[in-house]
Amino acid sequence: MRLFRLPPAPASAQVTVHVDGRALSVAAGLSVAAALLGHGVTPFRRTPVSGAPRAPLCMMGVCFDCLLCIDGEPNQQGCLATVREGMHIQLQDGAAQLGGE
Ligand code: FES
Repeated sequence: MRLFRLPPAPASAQVTVHVDGRALSVAAGLSVAAALLGHGVTPFRRTPVSGAPRAPLCMMGVCFDCLLCIDGEPNQQGCLATVREGMHIQLQDGAAQLGGE
């Protein structure tokens, strides 16, 4: 069940992002978290210790439950990042590796 619905945006105001290899057309200017929630993507990550699912809560950079790997950079706050054409987003499962590969 989707908790959020976004109003339709004109095709000219859309960008394509890739979420775990799946192309999604989203409104330009949205935060990554809002765009993914609008497409029913949840959870965004699972915790390293218990594997508990997490999804955005505060949408303002406080809770860190929206962490994603964005364009190869792990632990990015989806609520503070803006979608860009061709952006690659990966959901995080457990602890993200730090310092590159
Ligand atoms: S949703 Fe809370 S930090 Fe992003």
